[in-house]
Amino acid sequence: MEAHKVEDIRQNIAEKMAKQMKCEKYANDQRRASRTIEDVKKYAENGGQEDICRIIKNLNLSKQQITLKELIERLYEIFENDRVNVEEVHALMSAYQSNPAEWLKFAKFDRYKYTRNLVDAGNGKFNLMILCWGEGQGSSIHDHADAHCFMKMLTGSLCETRYEWPEKKDDEDANPMREISRSILRTNEVCYINDSIGLHRVENLSYSDCAVSLHLYSPPFNSCTVFDARTGRSSKVTATFWSVYGERKKDGNSNESS
Ligand SMILES: [Fe+2]
Repeated sequence: MEAHKVEDIRQNIAEKMAKQMKCEKYANDQRRASRTIEDVKKYAENGGQEDICRIIKNLNLSKQQITLKELIERLYEIFENDRVNVEEVHALMSAYQSNPAEWLKFAKFDRYKYTRNLVDAGNGKFNLMILCWGEGQGSSIHDHADAHCFMKMLTGSLCETRYEWPEKKDDEDANPMREISRSILRTNEVCYINDSIGLHRVENLSYSDCAVSLHLYSPPFNSCTVFDARTGRSSKVTATFWSVYGERKKDGNSNESS
């Protein structure tokens, strides 16, 4: 078949799939829908027919329960490519319904600060980790080192406060950071952030219940920047793991980012 015909067909399929996705998933959200159409078109242009089929499959998962093991297997498939479809990963993480029997072995708490516990290193393409938040524990305001960040609640609830990036000014002109939004994430809900959206702080506001969340970062990173809410001043911090694959890490500390 001639190349331009193949391209026409590819475009056609992409349009149809994008429309289907728009109808089924994002009828009330034009902004996200158009971004999805663009994503699918981009995939089609690059010859990603297999990717499109996988994306559709994962987007249709939302009402279907998958196990943690299946979630990880599908993440490996998705991250085989360097391109990431945010809606697809979001849908996949939403499809997993928290089952403590599957993740309890990774959930390790520290009495002084929240902990980061590595679940899977994702072949170097992503890090999947479980963060354990004791009563009243929270993170600093931080960026995500140019990575995608997905966060899903496994139990309890967390408050996510988003901030604008501070304007670069002299020390004398330091200003309080501007809040963009504040939302509560409850069990099984998923949120997404990256540096172009802004910065955030995550807190367990409860003084009676702990919280556990599942985080996916891609690409993985081991340092990020934290910010002082009153001045906007920043500093670099190293992110380490409290435990790895369910085993306590001797030198693992609690962290300054999530
Ligand atoms: Fe974060």
